[in-house]
Amino acid sequence: MKRATNNTWRRVLSSGVCLTALLTPLGHSSALAADEASSTDAATAPAAPAAPPEKPKIDVRKLFAMNCSWCHDGYGMHAGKGPKLAGTTMSHEQVYLRIEKGKSGAMPGYGKVLSKDQIQVLADYIKALPSE
Ligand code: HEC
Repeated sequence: MKRATNNTWRRVLSSGVCLTALLTPLGHSSALAADEASSTDAATAPAAPAAPPEKPKIDVRKLFAMNCSWCHDGYGMHAGKGPKLAGTTMSHEQVYLRIEKGKSGAMPGYGKVLSKDQIQVLADYIKALPSE
């Protein structure tokens, strides 16, 4: 414990020494340079507002794994409790509705669990699966 503290101090001290060594030449620069520096500071001072965070991309495989995999095996590539989804004859819209509403007695509806975007992405994913 004591050793660690000593080491930390040594690190702080040595970095302090380094910093001083680097800054010393600047200490000798003219007042003009100092003025320049402060005007640059002023120009950059008002920080630009941060860009709004990008909408997080939906990880469709994760979504599928968490909600659908226990019935639709192999990420929809194989039949399980539910049918194989790859190569479905349903239209994109029908797939969307099936996910949203489910099918009574067979598949739960996800309209209340998942967002429209998430259902959309799942429908895109299923329609894009290779049929073979
Ligand atoms: C409890 C098991 C179960 C879960 C969980 C489940 N499904 Fe299903 N799913 C089924 C069954 C069973 C069917 C067949 C229903 C029928 O008789 O038409 C089906 C049918 C489908 C169909 C229609 C396929 C076709 O061509 O007829 C789609 C699309 C589908 N599921 C997508 C999903 C998605 C996406 C999820 C996850 C968000 C999901 N399912 C979760 C059991 C499930």
